[in-house]
Amino acid sequence: MLYQQVAERLAKAIQSGAYVEGERLPSVRRLHQEWQVSFSTALAALGLLEAQGLIEARPRSGYYVRARSLSLPKIQQQTEPAPAAVERYALISRVLQQSHQPGLMHLGAAVPEPCYLPLDALKRISARCLREQPSLLTDYAFAPGDEELRRQISQRMQLVGCQIDKEDVLITQGCQEALSLCLRALAKPGDIIAIESPAYHGLLQAIEALGLRALEIPCHPQDGLDVEALARALGQWPVKACVVSANFSNPSGSLMPDEAKARLVALISAAQIPLIEDDTYGDLTHGSRRPRPLKSWDREGWVLYCSAFSKTLAPGFRVGWLVAGRFQATLQRLFTVTALAGHALSQRVIAEYLARGEYDRHLRRIRRSYRQQMQAAGEALAAEHLPVHWQLPRGGFLLWLQLASAQDAMQVYQRLLEQGVSVMPGHLFSGTEHFQHCLRLSVAVKTPQWPEFARALQQVL
Ligand SMILES: Cc1ncc(COP(=O)(O)O)c(C=O)c1O
Repeated sequence: MLYQQVAERLAKAIQSGAYVEGERLPSVRRLHQEWQVSFSTALAALGLLEAQGLIEARPRSGYYVRARSLSLPKIQQQTEPAPAAVERYALISRVLQQSHQPGLMHLGAAVPEPCYLPLDALKRISARCLREQPSLLTDYAFAPGDEELRRQISQRMQLVGCQIDKEDVLITQGCQEALSLCLRALAKPGDIIAIESPAYHGLLQAIEALGLRALEIPCHPQDGLDVEALARALGQWPVKACVVSANFSNPSGSLMPDEAKARLVALISAAQIPLIEDDTYGDLTHGSRRPRPLKSWDREGWVLYCSAFSKTLAPGFRVGWLVAGRFQATLQRLFTVTALAGHALSQRVIAEYLARGEYDRHLRRIRRSYRQQMQAAGEALAAEHLPVHWQLPRGGFLLWLQLASAQDAMQVYQRLLEQGVSVMPGHLFSGTEHFQHCLRLSVAVKTPQWPEFARALQQVL
């Protein structure tokens, strides 16, 4: 039927991003004139897309692309969160181990495949650094770490509004170490830490290992932390610290609007509760402007900023950093008694890479690739008409899926594994039961086979 062909053409245009969420589609009159179809065919095509949930009619205005947003899990409307011990370590370790098995389509771990990393440049710079200063291979990099690297990092942070200099930066061995050090410095066993729900599994493991209790604050899948819910929780519980990933959180990819970020920093500063910011994915915006970190609103030093080059340059280099505000001296001491020192060679190589000005070009390339991969994954899922909701994040390389039926994601994960595909079940991202129908995928894979993945998912659902 002609109206179905018209509908299909429009659906393709939406899925390819030619029309984005909230954008107005051509009117019935324009379809009639430009696509040379009758009024009734155009109307029937738009009606079909509306019935499929792709578009919505707005009275006296026209048809608009509908936002494919997830419905918030029920807890967020029904009950206020309460602190609880986390017990996820064993499960997370098992799934992470399985997800690295050879021969799988690796969509599980949040580790970019080598084609997204500037391997050749890092190899060249490493060779030159070693030629010029062989002791880099054996030297300790004592805290606070390589001076040039700290200078480069502080300059980049200044560009996104953080009023810091190189003396404020402490180089760590990845962001995981930075997060763990902050938790150890700020809390003792039994203390309550307010975190996002869902949250990064490595954070849950650290909270569990340190004997802390997690207070899971509801998050909107698109706009991140619910600041009002956090404000209520702070009034009710003696929270020792908060941990928030405002820019492209793991797993949901949410991005807090600037206005909510400002309110959050004002809230924790007034309450004098430290906030640990995890900005691991902040550099990976799909848009033109890198979002501001929470730290850029921090005037009183309550934000402890953590990040790393693990998702952008070299996961195995183990180079991250910490800007701990009023807690900087405590953190530096804790780092020294924990790690003694960092890796001199990897710190120097990254410092050189940044100093050459290559980082921004590299970021532009991978941001474009991740945006395209997301789009392709979304199109493949849409083409199979799967009973799954998702929304394309505005940055990063993680796609968060919510199964429409109340299927157990752990079973789906197991069945996908049998089909040769690794993903991450939602169980890994919360101490609660609320995300057990969710899956996380990484799109940072070299040869993505999205149609094959969508068909595999179709079979196991
Ligand atoms: C949100 C988030 N924070 C921290 C980390 C840990 O990063 P790193 O490898 O730098 O320790 C990860 C790694 O997956 C992450 O996704």
